[in-house]
Amino acid sequence: MRDTEVLDAAERRRAATFVRPVDRDVYIASHSALRRLLGAYLDRDPAALRFVREPCPCCDAPHGRPALAGAPLHFSLSHTRGLALLGFARTPIGVDIETLTAPEVVDEVASVLHPQERAELAALPPAGRAAAFARCWTRKEACLKGMGTGLAGDLMTTTLVGTGPDPAPVEGWETVDVPVPEGYAAACAVRTAGSPS
Ligand SMILES: CC(C)(COP(=O)(O)OP(=O)(O)OC[C@H]1O[C@@H](n2cnc3c(N)ncnc32)[C@H](O)[C@@H]1OP(=O)(O)O)[C@@H](O)C(=O)NCCC(=O)NCCS
Ligand SMILES: [Zn+2]
Repeated sequence: MRDTEVLDAAERRRAATFVRPVDRDVYIASHSALRRLLGAYLDRDPAALRFVREPCPCCDAPHGRPALAGAPLHFSLSHTRGLALLGFARTPIGVDIETLTAPEVVDEVASVLHPQERAELAALPPAGRAAAFARCWTRKEACLKGMGTGLAGDLMTTTLVGTGPDPAPVEGWETVDVPVPEGYAAACAVRTAGSPS
């Protein structure tokens, strides 16, 4: 079965909106991989899986985490130029993969981070800032995707994940950096079993 054949009508429509073929290809590959892996884990037909959106924890609208209605498996998906990352867990999970931000724009985009993270970045030599920023950003986005909010409101500023080699602990979440090829950064956050959801 070809990749596009497992996608539903909405996914095919979305795939057709990508301007750059590389982005379309990663979208199709990641969504078909998501369906195939969920199908394999749950012993269900990948093409027949129906996704829903959980209520947003910020505003209750149906644009929270994508989920499979009634399935005991949580998942998260992230794609960037040429690469995708998928995560699966028994508790809520968020993953994020990004290409490194150009060093000259790091200072600008870092303004949304936690004050402590901004101070950590400012103390680094310029050559180390892009990788440290990417570690911080992907950890944070993974946590916020796990929570289902996305990069909403002031959570980027109030959630502290750190820029150093080890993620700062976020209560109720286990965050790890995911090894990826040079030029990329990635992280995964899994809700600690027993934490209130
Ligand atoms: C959702 C968001 C985190 C995606 O980030 P991104 O770096 O652009 O994209 P990624 O590739 O890492 O992730 C995309 C995937 O995240 C998932 N996703 C979308 N919304 C999500 C949410 N609220 N929580 C968790 N995962 C979500 C989807 O699987 C999506 O895949 P798709 O675009 O192929 O369907 C980001 O676009 C965002 O925060 N948007 C704004 C959210 C917002 O305004 N919320 C308002 C709250 S009131
Ligand atoms: Zn919302």
